Amino acid sequence: MDLDLKRVHRQLSTRRIGRDLRYYPTIGSTMDVARALAEAGEAEGVTVVADEQTAGRGRLGRTWVAPPGVNLYVSILVRPTPATMKRLGMVAPLAVAEAVVAVGGPAVTFKWPNDVRAGGRKLSGILIESGFAGNVPAYAVVGIGLNVNLDARRYPEIAEIATSIAQECGRTVSREDTLAALLTAFERYYDCPDGAAVRAAWRAQLETLGQEVDVTFGGRTEHGLAEDVDDDGALILRRTDGTRVVLPAGEVTLRRPS
Ligand code: BTN
Repeated sequence: MDLDLKRVHRQLSTRRIGRDLRYYPTIGSTMDVARALAEAGEAEGVTVVADEQTAGRGRLGRTWVAPPGVNLYVSILVRPTPATMKRLGMVAPLAVAEAVVAVGGPAVTFKWPNDVRAGGRKLSGILIESGFAGNVPAYAVVGIGLNVNLDARRYPEIAEIATSIAQECGRTVSREDTLAALLTAFERYYDCPDGAAVRAAWRAQLETLGQEVDVTFGGRTEHGLAEDVDDDGALILRRTDGTRVVLPAGEVTLRRPS
């Protein structure tokens, strides 16, 4: 069923984010549409939403399962300063967490760099793609996939690792209410002048801290204890030989060692 955009707008209390909502019943990926809008000079806050994606993508070139009628597939165009650019990876999961709570969903945790999890499974994934003019960020597209009413058990490729708000709380949830809450919370965290407060709120829900992890990036794997995160959301890993390494939240895979 199509999203009821009037219901979203009625509840939206933002100034920019999601005020201009571009809705597609079906699209390849909302990331591509949002990127094209960014390149065409559209203003910060324009948000692309689809009911279904036929080529939804995740981090590290993975596919994002995106069937119609059940979930939220959202790409938000922002034009951040260098400082706010670094914060996007914290702002987006915080906004998801707040939206989930607002609709009566389960308690969530974050898995570094920016997965949102509930009941030990992935509830939401975030993909950030950016465009630069020289060294200066020109825009970022923040892609958020949030499983709202999905029955992940029907999709063998994600059945064991994914969940949805409905699956966790045992009832169907309004996608419109969830979207309005998500965009409202996103703007608040994005506009928050206190970067330290944003980091503290994100860090408080980060289940990765204190865990032993393997982090793979650029063909290299680091093993150690996830000790802390720095102001930019990079992971500070204590290797078994006692040395520390800082791993930026980019194209990385994080695994618990088996
Ligand atoms: C991940 O965890 O790998 C990130 C998943 C991001 C999925 C969202 S759905 C909306 C937007 N459009 C896409 O094609 N991907 C992102």
